[in-house]
Amino acid sequence: MKKQKSRMSGGRIMASLILLLGSLAYVMLFAVINGSLGFVCSMGVTVFGAVGVAKALGEQIAISYGLIIGLAVGLGALRGALRFVEQYCNHYIAFRLLAVLRDKIFAALRRLCPAKLESKKKGSIIAMLTSDIETLEVFYAHTVSPICIAITVSTAVFLFVGFVSGWYMSLVALAGFVAVGIIAPVISSSFMRDAGVKYRASFASFNAYFLDSIKGIKDIVLNNAGKQRKEEVNARSDELLKHTHELKYKIANAGAVTEFTVSLMTLVATAVAVAMTATGKITIGKAVIGVVAIFGSFGPVIAISALPGNLTQTFASGDRVLKLLKEKPVVEDIEGKKDFVFENVEVKGLTFGYDNDKKVLEDICLTAKRGEIVGIVGESGCGKSTLLKLLMRFWSKDEGEILYCGDDIETLNSASLLDNVTMVSQTTYLFDETVEENLKIAKENATYDELAKACRQASIHDFITALPEGYRTKTGALGDNLSAGEKQRIGLARAFLRGSGLILLDEPTSNVDSINEGIILSSLAEQKKDKAIILVSHRESTMAIADRVYRIQNGRISEVNR
Ligand SMILES: Nc1ncnc2c1ncn2[C@@H]1O[C@H](COP(=O)(O)OP(=O)(O)O)[C@@H](O)[C@H]1O
Ligand SMILES: [Mg+2]
Repeated sequence: MKKQKSRMSGGRIMASLILLLGSLAYVMLFAVINGSLGFVCSMGVTVFGAVGVAKALGEQIAISYGLIIGLAVGLGALRGALRFVEQYCNHYIAFRLLAVLRDKIFAALRRLCPAKLESKKKGSIIAMLTSDIETLEVFYAHTVSPICIAITVSTAVFLFVGFVSGWYMSLVALAGFVAVGIIAPVISSSFMRDAGVKYRASFASFNAYFLDSIKGIKDIVLNNAGKQRKEEVNARSDELLKHTHELKYKIANAGAVTEFTVSLMTLVATAVAVAMTATGKITIGKAVIGVVAIFGSFGPVIAISALPGNLTQTFASGDRVLKLLKEKPVVEDIEGKKDFVFENVEVKGLTFGYDNDKKVLEDICLTAKRGEIVGIVGESGCGKSTLLKLLMRFWSKDEGEILYCGDDIETLNSASLLDNVTMVSQTTYLFDETVEENLKIAKENATYDELAKACRQASIHDFITALPEGYRTKTGALGDNLSAGEKQRIGLARAFLRGSGLILLDEPTSNVDSINEGIILSSLAEQKKDKAIILVSHRESTMAIADRVYRIQNGRISEVNR
């Protein structure tokens, strides 16, 4: 399989993330307008204070003290309201989008499945669904609009100070804005980039390992491997802590530099104001208004300079999420081609390998039709499961034909294929829901009679009705009281409920005791009348019910003479 390309650039990630906004961009615009006005209002409070002082210093100001105070108070109150609306909009956008993104990720996984879930990186998918998505909240709620607000407010202050107190002072302000809002973040983000990426990587690795350890805790205890596990967890936790320290240290340094720059630029602005007043270029009053306006105007750019620490993480998360959304599935769903109703399947010259150079299956030929049970035996790892997955088109064949009723699998609609072919795997997963709900994943609106019929066919009906609440019993409440055989029979009932013409069984009895194996096999034998069943096992004993048996060996298949 192809290796993933390296990371996209920050700009491209940001642009792609913003494109995901779609129609929410209007809400974002509204948030930015409110945020900018809010900031202008908050500056207005101090500026009107300065206007009052300027008036007291003898500046010609046409409005009364009462009006000045009134305006300052009014702007203060308005600031609150505008800020509320801004934050409300931003979080509305962020959480809406997170829901949309989760949905997109699930859709992507659905597209990529089941091949994607066979890869070993399930932990990183879980990390993506949890922490990466949360990180993007920071981007949508606390990154985009602050940047827009900083640009708007800085421009407004530049113009205001320029017109009121002269362009020298406003140039000082502009230099400050550029230093704090652009130069500082660019420099510190280049310093922090590595630390951010390492932090995210160690966070993801710790999460994946920890989750994996919790899932496997039984086996850890049984093998008395707790000590090594704990040491490894501790080692990864130390690693994470180290990277956290590194990142926080850099963030703190960047913050200090920012604060220093702000103080410095305010001092320079004051010096310029003093010089201009001394040389009689502007009045003291205008100088005071200018200095106060500049002093109060750094808020939005400071907010931006605080971003890089978050932003590098955001980019790393955004990168992973965007890559997943763009990832091409191993097999594309087929739509708009042919539907079919299963009668028979014929495999001719089928060849397949997961990697190009190593063939798992070569020149496989077999047939199965309604009313038959076809057995496939072979040693573990010989490609039995692979063959079943090819019959379901979880992977695409390399060469040869898989013909359902004479039509090649590549010409049949995926939905139709899933309707006609059902696979029961080695272990059945039961969700922590009622037995009924667990069965209904096979057929959403199945009636009680249908459920009961499928369960009778799988010889599990009597067992279920004997449970405390029958079909309404929660499987979680049963805990380990449900044996592998009983679970497997529920899996079988699901398959019968789907009503497909072809059922593929991948070692259905390998985890099951001989009593359950007997029950399952006789259920199957009874069901074969109107179905075809392909039964895979590495045990010969399971094959007693098969009409025909094939053996796979060294990638090749041959019929067993019995
Ligand atoms: N997703 C996969 N990617 C790469 N190789 C795989 C994958 N799944 C199985 N294989 C390899 O293909 C071979 C056949 O596996 P499988 O069909 O599961 O065997 P069986 O079911 O007969 O035990 C094995 O060598 C296995 O390691
Ligand atoms: Mg297998």
